[in-house]
Amino acid sequence: MSEEEIAVEQLTEAQARGELARLARVLAEADAAYHAEDAPLMSDAAYDALKARNAAIEARFPALKRADSPLERVGAAPAEGFATVRHRVRMLSLGNLPQDKKSKITPPEEVHKFDARIRRYLGLGQADPLAYTSEPKIDGLSLSLRYEAGHLVQAATRGDGETGENVTANARTIADIPERIEGAPDVLEVRGEVYMSHADFEALNARQADRADKLFANPRNAAAGSLRQLDPAITAARPLRFFAYGWGELSAPLAETQMGALERLAAFGFPTNPRTALCDGPRALLAHYREIEQARATLGYDIDGMVYKVNDLRLQERLGFRATTPRWAIAHKFPAELAWTRLEAIDIQVGRTGALSPVARLAPVTVGGVVVRNATLHNEDYIAGRNSDGQPIREGRDIRVGDWVQVYRAGDVIPQIADVDLSRRPADAAPYVFPVTCPECGSDAVREPGDSVRRCVGGLICPAQAVERLKHFVSRAAFDIEGLGAKQVEAFYRDGWIREPADIFTLEERFGQGLQQLRNREGWGEKSAANLFRAIEEKRRIPFERLLFALGIRHVGEQASSLIARHYGTWEAFIAAMDGARDLAGPEWERLLGIDGVGEVLATSLVRTVTEPHERASIDRLTAHLSVLPAERPDVSGSPVAGKTLVFTGTLEKMTRAEAKARAEALGAKVAGSVSARTDLVIAGPGAGSKARKAAELGVEVIDEAAWLDLVGGR
Ligand code: IVH
Repeated sequence: MSEEEIAVEQLTEAQARGELARLARVLAEADAAYHAEDAPLMSDAAYDALKARNAAIEARFPALKRADSPLERVGAAPAEGFATVRHRVRMLSLGNLPQDKKSKITPPEEVHKFDARIRRYLGLGQADPLAYTSEPKIDGLSLSLRYEAGHLVQAATRGDGETGENVTANARTIADIPERIEGAPDVLEVRGEVYMSHADFEALNARQADRADKLFANPRNAAAGSLRQLDPAITAARPLRFFAYGWGELSAPLAETQMGALERLAAFGFPTNPRTALCDGPRALLAHYREIEQARATLGYDIDGMVYKVNDLRLQERLGFRATTPRWAIAHKFPAELAWTRLEAIDIQVGRTGALSPVARLAPVTVGGVVVRNATLHNEDYIAGRNSDGQPIREGRDIRVGDWVQVYRAGDVIPQIADVDLSRRPADAAPYVFPVTCPECGSDAVREPGDSVRRCVGGLICPAQAVERLKHFVSRAAFDIEGLGAKQVEAFYRDGWIREPADIFTLEERFGQGLQQLRNREGWGEKSAANLFRAIEEKRRIPFERLLFALGIRHVGEQASSLIARHYGTWEAFIAAMDGARDLAGPEWERLLGIDGVGEVLATSLVRTVTEPHERASIDRLTAHLSVLPAERPDVSGSPVAGKTLVFTGTLEKMTRAEAKARAEALGAKVAGSVSARTDLVIAGPGAGSKARKAAELGVEVIDEAAWLDLVGGR
């Protein structure tokens, strides 16, 4: 009888060893054929049977487990680097409940406020039932797993939420992630967190130490470093785990509730977190939070808080999303971690907008598993012990070089200084004197009334500002030029090759001939120079909103850029409008202020910058090299309100104002706060006052809520 026919219980140790060797070979061949050559050698059932046999033998003879055990599958290695994957449904992050500035604790009322906000948005009364799931917030990295016809076909990291890295081969090595699932929708994207347990993390670091390899700072870094390995064999050797908590694209709904969906994911074979609870309101959420906070140290893996999600998936859909976070979920973080250390120096950094930012240089200290050497001190008032209104903070205690200070960090946030211990202050410690000139260019550094920040007035002549603006220009959410990061920008600036954004696009013209100059630079080969020129070339076509954000205009962030781009459509229309608004008055100025989400501060900064002659010349030099793509508008074909400007006023009864506004915007309408000659339609509920009167005066159409619901297809 050959070994493969002997029942596992009957195998001798020698036979078991031989059988494991055979299974390793056969399964490896099957894996290679399946993943790399796309030509399976055996049926799924036969494959599963061999794996089950392998598992049974390993269970009976744990000492015989092979280093290349097929149970720690390795797929085919990706060719070079990671390919990128565009997420079909964006991977968003979560908003956080606010924390108290001093204690770093979230006041319990915030949970009640979150519930109240959701009720208000949905138009629910206090007595209406509204359930939430409360799930531990796993401190790892998120992963999206795509299954088609029950087979794992792709795994991708979150990346920037829109595109991530293709880590399929690595994900296949994670035992918690099933290769095949049954009874699932045809297309199913499962989302969850990859993490490492405390025990596995310690064992890994012990192994790393034995081999004099680098140690990981904490389990999260270890998990990220292990998943993002080009060689899946390395990932396979690192014990990663997975919890499923969500989904992306689906060809059929999973369930009607979050809890039901989690149960289905569990039934497909995904681990879901056993400490998840269904709560009937904020009180129950808080009780569960306290329970898990108590149990935190015994879980065996890191969590950094709880996540609350509206349980009813229809309500989740109605609540929808803000720019980057869902309205139907929120993170309730545990208080940040604290440590005391000595403040050795205060350095001043000059930012993109000229802001002088004080940075604390600290005696290195471990806070929550990470070594901290620097922390932000915010601004001169913060150091002096007062807030921007002149009110005392830290009971007025100032911070001096030589002091013992309390450092805290919360997740990815830059470490901060929370407090100072006066009893340990050295006798010779002097109050910190904040500079009134720019340490980089010597220009005056001034504080405008009402601004907590002192700014260098050097503008384009200040090298620090110029470099920071360039770094911002090439950053990920802006031009995102591969091979041109902060380090390269600094070097190119220092050598005078790139002084302003336009110079990036003439780099090849000026230095590309023979690539001689670039090639001679340290760290640059012919290939990297050619790659850089190609990457730059690719970015000559740039979406309007990215270009606007890339300019780094004060107060004009990513969200504002996209609002403005969507409003004006084309770059030319936008520039003409800015010129029209030059005097901060007139119809173009009013139109700019009419964009929902654009206030006076933003609008002033935008118009002043774009019409300032030096800035404008620099922008024009840049756009001469670009073709600016018009802003993408949502698909609103057939929408009766696309492109129209609406105003809601009075009380709405069927939906809340916020929901009505979100709905109108999704249909391509602009929602303004006040009625003007540009308003196309006013929706007036009971109690509408001056806005409805103004509309009548201007001859703008006014309809009631019922007519509005008819118009947009009811609910
Ligand atoms: S839901 C659109 N649930 O926390 C909602 N996220 O700070 C997406 N995380 O990016 C997230 N545990 O990586 C959700 N039970 C949980 C989670 C969880 C950990 C992570 C996730 C997310 C990050 C946001």
